[in-house]
Amino acid sequence: MKKYDVGVIPGDGTGPEVTAEALKVLKAAAQVEGLDFNLVHYDLGGERYLKKGELVPNSVLSELRQMNAILLGAIGHPDVKPGILETGVLLKLRFELDLYINLRPVVLFPGVYTPLRDKGPADIDFTVVRENTEGLYAGSGGFLKKGSPDEVAVQESVNTRKGVERCIRFAFKYCRKLNRRKKLTLCCKTNVLTFAFDLWDRVFRECAADYPDVQTDYAHVDAICMWMVKNPEYFDVIVTDNMFGDIITDLGAMIQGGMGIAAGGNINPEGTSMFEPIGGSAPKYPGLNKINPLAAICSGQMMLVHLGEDKAAVRILNAVKKALQHDLKSLDAGKMGMGTKEVGDLVAKYVREQV
Ligand code: IPM
Ligand code: MN
Repeated sequence: MKKYDVGVIPGDGTGPEVTAEALKVLKAAAQVEGLDFNLVHYDLGGERYLKKGELVPNSVLSELRQMNAILLGAIGHPDVKPGILETGVLLKLRFELDLYINLRPVVLFPGVYTPLRDKGPADIDFTVVRENTEGLYAGSGGFLKKGSPDEVAVQESVNTRKGVERCIRFAFKYCRKLNRRKKLTLCCKTNVLTFAFDLWDRVFRECAADYPDVQTDYAHVDAICMWMVKNPEYFDVIVTDNMFGDIITDLGAMIQGGMGIAAGGNINPEGTSMFEPIGGSAPKYPGLNKINPLAAICSGQMMLVHLGEDKAAVRILNAVKKALQHDLKSLDAGKMGMGTKEVGDLVAKYVREQV
């Protein structure tokens, strides 16, 4: 029996509820496929911070590094000032574990509502590869004369040759592995941000020579936003920096049916990767059994793909598709026609029922 150590960080708000359903479904798949998960829970997040003043202790970091993978629910607490948990927990984990890729598939499953009237599952099916450790997120900058009328605030985008290159190479390889249209679109803003994205553009062109079977393409981020709405079928894989990747994947989440279904993976191809829904802790919904757990379930599915457990992953994918086509009324919290736990039960049942 194959055994995996999985760090589980349920986190804040609705995080624990959706994580519980993801684990329910993962356990069902594990049982059928003969896998064994050794789950190690960590109480990182707002409550721990408020009680102990602790964000991510070094001892937890070193334990997480030893895991085969990490599953995270959500981080963000209404009683903690914005920025503290985001940078102190989520970004800290991304940076310390060097999770340099944020992989975000934008897939419209059959039976799911999209606000794009004339588009369907055949049109909305692409992946965003977001750089996850640099850019405007690196935390470089500061204030001058803070609080005075002469105040200056600077926030710098940090782009290293190494960081850009490893992200772009990952995207080329990923596009090749998907083996669909094999088109990689670089999403930047070379017409205005002429330093950072000049580097991205040069590295992209240089790397392209090593992947001649992959078609290359470029679009400015604003045009990408237009086309994601107007003709999303244009895209196969998009590679972009941290900030643009953050923004366009929220747009992506909306066209694939909302935050209820948008899953993602923070990947370190050489280390421990962490899987999490794109959405946040949904402070309006904790404890109501109303939040949609599918994004967390699909993040668990991505974790299985990453671990090389394709059979178990396909089981979950098929089960989610079946539930979407036959059972869920909507993907929005409180409108699914069933509760959080019932969605988890149903997907777990469909996972077990497959031959
Ligand atoms: C995301 C989130 C995070 C980000 C925040 C919470 C730091 O919006 O995962 O997209 O901006 O990366
Ligand atoms: Mn975001």
